[in-house]
Order: sequence, then C-alpha cells, then structure tokens
Amino acid sequence: MTSPLRLGILGSGKGSNFQVLVEAARSKSCYYEPVMVLSDVADAGILKLAEQFKIPAHFLAPGPFKTKLTEAIEQEMVTYLQAAQVDFVALAGFMRVVKEPLLKAFPGRILNIHPSLLPQFPGLAAWKQACEAHVAETGCTVHLVDEGIDTGKILGQSRVPVFPEDTPEMVHARIQVAEHELYPRIVNEFARTISKSA
Ligand code: GAR
Repeated sequence: MTSPLRLGILGSGKGSNFQVLVEAARSKSCYYEPVMVLSDVADAGILKLAEQFKIPAHFLAPGPFKTKLTEAIEQEMVTYLQAAQVDFVALAGFMRVVKEPLLKAFPGRILNIHPSLLPQFPGLAAWKQACEAHVAETGCTVHLVDEGIDTGKILGQSRVPVFPEDTPEMVHARIQVAEHELYPRIVNEFARTISKSA
C-alpha cells in the first residue's frame, strides 16, 4: 500500500464524526490519515478532541457573516491546509458554506457528511426537517462539496427509520450512529480511489 493520503478536517461542533475518522485510521490499515483540524468555533469539542489525539488544530475567527467565511479567512484556511500538505478535506459538522478559495485549492477533493438522504432536506437541522415532514425514513449522505448547498455528487448513503413518537433529537442520535459507520468507510474508499489514480 502507498503512504496514506493526508486529510484535513473542518468542523464547528462536538466532533464525533472527526473522532470516528481518527479511530478508523488508527485502528486498521487505511488509505487516509487525519493530519489537521480547523474550526470556526473557539470552544468546539472538535478542537479538544484534536488535542487529545495530538493532531494539530487551529481556530480561525469566522468574521462578520453567519453562514459563510470571508474570502480572506477561507484563504487562511487554505494556507494552513497546504502547509500541512493536505491531499483532501472532509467537512465534519462544519456549519458554513464553502466558497471559491477552498473549492479552487481542493477541486473535487472536499467531502461532506449531511444528516439526511439528499436531495431531501438540505441545509440546517435536517433531522428536524425530517420530523416536521413526517417521513418514515431519513438517513445520512456523504457527498462531494460544490458551490451549492448540499448539492454535490453523492458518494454514499445510509438509511434510518423515523418513528411517529420520535423527537428531533432522537432522530439525530439515530442518524449519528449511521454517520459513524458511513463516513470513515466512504472517506477511505475515496482515498483509495484517488491514491490509485495518482
Ligand atoms: C452531524 O450530524 C453532521 O451530519 C451535521 O452536523 C453534525 C456534526 O456532528 N452536519 C450538518 O448538518 C452540515 N450541514 P459531530 O460534530 O458530532 O460530527
């Protein structure tokens, strides 16, 4: 096997998807290795986890917008990722839309995990959207990131049931169990594919 591809991870939250990506990479022979974490939230759990895993991590103050970063801040992220010789990027609960500096620096090489069966329920709190729509099933999707909101090519999905008595939190918890199996598997398959085409 060639040396693992270097993975950069962007996250805003508690970091459970980041955690399973690291655990998978460290417990078996994988085609990727997490090497850097960047967050737009100063006290995000993902930054504390990165410290525990001894993976370099940085907080970047997000600037004035709620749903995106300024071009300058995104460029700063690119600089960090390139300095760490990152080959590809995984968004793991990163709550901002990714724009040109990142998309141009890592074309076709940014993955995201979204808590619904896309194209259903793009955007925020997808588990709540699923509850409000009274669907019998939802799930999670790993997809490539493009300039749209959760519109890029789908790489894998897992399904979970939704029961009439579920709260949105119960649905999200069930989705997260599925995410923790799906994301490391698809990230590894993606890394294997790009290693082979290099
Ligand atoms: C995950 O459920 C992920 O799918 C979702 O945020 C959660 C992060 O959890 N992402 C989005 O909603 C992106 N639009 P984590 O911090 O424990 O990995």
